[in-house]
Amino acid sequence: MRLDQAINLDDIRILARKALPRIAFDFIDGGVDGEVALERNRAAFERYKLLPRYLVDVEKRHQKVTLFGHDYASPFGISPMGIAGFFRPGADLMLARAAARFELPYMMSSASCDSIEAAMALAPKTTWLQIYGTRDPHITLDLVARAKALGVRVLVMTVDTPVMGKRERNIRNGFRRPMKLTPGVILQGLSRPGWTFRYLAKGGIPMMENWRPYAAPGADANAVADLYGTQTPAPAQTWSIFAEVRKAWDGPLVVKGVMHPADAQKAVSLGADGVMVSNHGGRQLDSAPGSLDMLPVIADALAGRAELIIDSGFRRGSDIAKALCLGAKAAFLGRPAMFGVAAAGEAGAAKVLEIMRQELSLVMGQLGWTDTGCAGAESLIDLMEPRPAARAAPATDQIDANTEIDANTLRKAG
Ligand SMILES: Cc1cc2nc3c(=O)[nH]c(=O)nc-3n(C[C@H](O)[C@H](O)[C@H](O)COP(=O)(O)O)c2cc1C
Repeated sequence: MRLDQAINLDDIRILARKALPRIAFDFIDGGVDGEVALERNRAAFERYKLLPRYLVDVEKRHQKVTLFGHDYASPFGISPMGIAGFFRPGADLMLARAAARFELPYMMSSASCDSIEAAMALAPKTTWLQIYGTRDPHITLDLVARAKALGVRVLVMTVDTPVMGKRERNIRNGFRRPMKLTPGVILQGLSRPGWTFRYLAKGGIPMMENWRPYAAPGADANAVADLYGTQTPAPAQTWSIFAEVRKAWDGPLVVKGVMHPADAQKAVSLGADGVMVSNHGGRQLDSAPGSLDMLPVIADALAGRAELIIDSGFRRGSDIAKALCLGAKAAFLGRPAMFGVAAAGEAGAAKVLEIMRQELSLVMGQLGWTDTGCAGAESLIDLMEPRPAARAAPATDQIDANTEIDANTLRKAG
């Protein structure tokens, strides 16, 4: 199969598997422990069905959405993913460019290989920056200062990584640094000569450019990666680092990795402008619910006090439509975008975005939506409570801002 023959995101994944050695493909594809959360992310979409409405003029329809005060062409974007340069040199900038071409947000990971400075030079309107709390908080705060100086529009702080999940595929494959060229790895490399050539031509393990300034002058890629490894994860971090980031950053701030409604409320009480429901694509806590399972619960808990976005498991245009009906303003794609860029560079990433845009457009046509503002409970059937509009959004004024989450709210997560 060639890129132009790919018709859905499963095809893109197949192309990536053919392009990458197993050790690299599994790093992207895998989850944590027994990969139950990974499956649950997909299964969660089956609880909901979309209810079509016909004889509505849907000749002209658009997907425009306003996120944190700026317009984007569709209600989806690209989630942050570290070490993209390992899968293809320059991958971060290819993702940044593809997103800019489609006028979609791209969250650059602070663990990327290309720098935020380079991404902002290429795609200043659509590049957001994602940061982690680091053991030395000065690094986190310096990244915030760099983002501010560059005019980054939105800052995203990921909070779901106090410890690194047990990624069993990586352990089995011997994914570690420095990369050991075992006979198995060499064999995988020989069967993927394109990847191997590009990897070796770039001198092996790629530099994490965002982190270079924090390492000793002249530090090589391994030394910078070692520094990153000593600074993250930072298990002692608490909401106080989030409060410090809030103080240092006057633009829109999103908390990524929220699964508990009480955490969503805490984030907002500390000044978050946005909450991103995410279980890190099933890569952190294997017993976590699916991301979509928690979306309506968190929407209720926030009652419109912050913009709600989501990722984890989005593979179809209909998945995005369901999230919009449940209260999200946009959904983000992780692995599919990385598979696209690994398989075919910027063209591969663009193909993923194009497929999603087309699928969403077709679904909107079926639902009688002329724009994404038409999304709502009336278009959704919850198979656990099968009546249209079963979950009417609560009026903001009925919600006490300080309402504690009670057992009833949590039960709604099913
Ligand atoms: C290869 C890879 C690297 C990732 N790196 C980061 C990261 O640096 N920061 C972060 O917040 N999330 C990271 N994530 C999680 C994604 O941002 C996102 O939450 C997840 O991939 C979404 O699920 P999906 O892959 O099912 O779409 C990473 C995910 C993958 C697959």
